Amino acid sequence: MLALSSITILMVVGGFAAGAATKVSQASFGKTRDGVEVRLFTLTNDRGVEARIANYGGIVVSLKVPDRTGAMADVVLGHDSLAGYLDNPGPYLGALIGRYGNRIGHARFTLDGKQYTLAANNGENTLHGGLRGFDKVVWTPRELPDGGLELTYTSKDGEEGFPGALKVVVSYHLTGANELRIDYTATTDKDTVVNLTNHSYFNLKGAGNGDILDHLVTLNADRFTPVDAGLIPTGELKPVAGTPFDFRKPTAIGARIEQNDEQLKLGRGYDHNWVVNRKGSGLTLAARVEEPASGRVLEVETTEPGVQFYTGNFLDGTIKGKGGKVYNQRYGFCLETQHFPDSPNQPAFPTTVLKPGQQLRSTTVFRFRTSGAAKK
Ligand code: GLA
Repeated sequence: MLALSSITILMVVGGFAAGAATKVSQASFGKTRDGVEVRLFTLTNDRGVEARIANYGGIVVSLKVPDRTGAMADVVLGHDSLAGYLDNPGPYLGALIGRYGNRIGHARFTLDGKQYTLAANNGENTLHGGLRGFDKVVWTPRELPDGGLELTYTSKDGEEGFPGALKVVVSYHLTGANELRIDYTATTDKDTVVNLTNHSYFNLKGAGNGDILDHLVTLNADRFTPVDAGLIPTGELKPVAGTPFDFRKPTAIGARIEQNDEQLKLGRGYDHNWVVNRKGSGLTLAARVEEPASGRVLEVETTEPGVQFYTGNFLDGTIKGKGGKVYNQRYGFCLETQHFPDSPNQPAFPTTVLKPGQQLRSTTVFRFRTSGAAKK
């Protein structure tokens, strides 16, 4: 599964070349409640674009990118200190997600004839790996010679109910082309299920600077996976045509979000998996988002079959983020590249089973550009 095509490998090699001028440095980010020191890594490319990543949860803490005039803004929601993340784990701001991204229905699945029971941490379902997913663990960091950051975590056999010791290696690279590239690999010693992603919330105006309803979104997807009341896919791959889920042409997030549509009501907005249109298994454009006032553009490419487009519906103004700014509902959007939710219980979905001897490989690129002429 998830083998990289030769096209992907070429692009990855290109990315390394472009990333050569990226510098990495580190500082303390405080201690966990158990007294473990966490490091904050700063990746800076030769255009001044900067990503800060903690080895707690692999969290992207900040990401500074230019607007069309060159003015920088931090475009991801987050906290100034580790304590902010420890105190507010609910939204998974910026974190790596595993062992299984999104939901597994009824907190159970059957693999090789055996039923596995997981923690139900979202109603009766399992969300984002359970009570202590990969967002809440300390990863082993390593600065790479090319300016990247590698994070390693080995999840024990039986951790959160999942079978098999799973070794996960994630690398972050900031390239000279203003791309944050995330490469995921995983290996296991027993058959298991895996779905890895990153849960960054973007606001291209800058984190905390209002809602994201005027951002123009394009999703390269003809179909999405509708959900039930627990946000578990029904199994249907539904055409987006004629629905508020049709983002095949650039459309403001807020244009239809309040429509009287059953799926929008269930998600309290967009909180669904889109089926990426793809030919082959290489990097494919999944999404493009443009913020018209600043001209900042985000393009998301992935080797994954799906993307969870989530519009921050559960943010409710109770969290104060960086600089004391309050994060209200719809102040950020996520594009969580992934296999489909609940795949372990949905035989018709692309498989998330990983077996000993196989290596899961997955890549997602968040590329920042600008559009339009500079305003006088
Ligand atoms: C995912 C889920 C949402 C929500 C967020 C975190 O995007 O699909 O329902 O749980 O994570 O708040």
